[in-house]
Amino acid sequence: MNVDFAIVGCGAIGCRHAAVVDAERRGSIVSLCDVELGRAKELAEKYGPEIPCFDDFDQMLRHTDASIVNICTPHGLHAEMAIKAANAGKHILVEKPMALTVKDANEMIAAAQANGVHLMVVKQNRFNVPIALTRNALQTGKLGRIFMVKCDVLWNRHDGYYQSSNWRGRLDLEGGALYTQASHFIDLLNWWFGDVVEVEADVATFNHDVEIEDCGNALLKFDSGVMGALTWTTCVYNKNYEGSITIIGEFGTIKIGGPYLNKIEYWDVRALPLQDDIVFCDKPNAYGKYQGTSSNHDKVVTNVVAKLLNERHHVVEGDEGVMSIKAIEMIYAKARRHRGE
Ligand SMILES: NC(=O)c1ccc[n+]([C@@H]2O[C@H](COP(=O)([O-])OP(=O)(O)OC[C@H]3O[C@@H](n4cnc5c(N)ncnc54)[C@H](O)[C@@H]3O)[C@@H](O)[C@H]2O)c1
Repeated sequence: MNVDFAIVGCGAIGCRHAAVVDAERRGSIVSLCDVELGRAKELAEKYGPEIPCFDDFDQMLRHTDASIVNICTPHGLHAEMAIKAANAGKHILVEKPMALTVKDANEMIAAAQANGVHLMVVKQNRFNVPIALTRNALQTGKLGRIFMVKCDVLWNRHDGYYQSSNWRGRLDLEGGALYTQASHFIDLLNWWFGDVVEVEADVATFNHDVEIEDCGNALLKFDSGVMGALTWTTCVYNKNYEGSITIIGEFGTIKIGGPYLNKIEYWDVRALPLQDDIVFCDKPNAYGKYQGTSSNHDKVVTNVVAKLLNERHHVVEGDEGVMSIKAIEMIYAKARRHRGE
């Protein structure tokens, strides 16, 4: 049994999708699409010159035999493309963020349900070694009651990152730095502590010529009662400084850190000491002049294949993906109100 993939968007992360689908034992790339046709063709040259390439998504949907479409285009296009793919009877693996609004995300979920297809969202950080260790500590109750969580996304994005892109920095297509840089972190907080139910927030644009914010602070309350604080910025001088989550529990404290949630910075859990033989092997997605979060897309694709072949799997489906979109919408709404906009 094999799963046939079509990839739309052959930019920075589309290349990674192509590499991991190609390397997946039970996966094949059967179509590639990018408005910049040369990008699709470059991937075809690498992974199979016979793979049909398209510069028009509708045309690809009309011709492809793929059972799943990987959506790797700018945020603002995710909802429309996912709905079209669902209506064409294709399963969907959409990059984060799933959509820019809860309304769009719900329409994607409804389209998938109406067409009997699966809508899955890329959340590869859930496979990071420190994340799995922390999840285990939480699930087994070893931390006792959780009081607080603190999350810092203190990263660098240089001017060229925005200037070389026709969608980054734009409100209509990127939406904000929370969708791009912080959504993986917010996903983990939702996964562990539930929906965000109350927010205080402020944002500012200090050091980039963009329509979106480059600094922000938010105080969060989760439906589990946990108090949270989130600080995010793309203004850190020179290079990414830290991407961290610190959990304060009754019987333990954990700080996951490193630039991309790849290390345990601090672990003091009463009934669960950290083993000293753990191999911290997560690597970053590296895009030339900047680094993103972990490169565990191979694990995402392997689990998507398992799901589509009705095997045991760990995939994040649309109804879970929407939680971080809801939190982000609430944060921006509160920040706008705070600034009297
Ligand atoms: N999971 C992760 O850690 C991760 C990492 C990087 C990017 N992403 C997400 O992946 C998405 C793409 O990001 P990127 O960094 O690869 O951007 P990118 O600009 O490098 O690539 C986007 C590609 O989409 C193509 N495109 C734009 N409009 C199109 C259309 N209508 N039809 C077909 N192709 C079209 C562009 O030509 C470009 O090649 C974003 O949603 C981003 O947040 C996720």
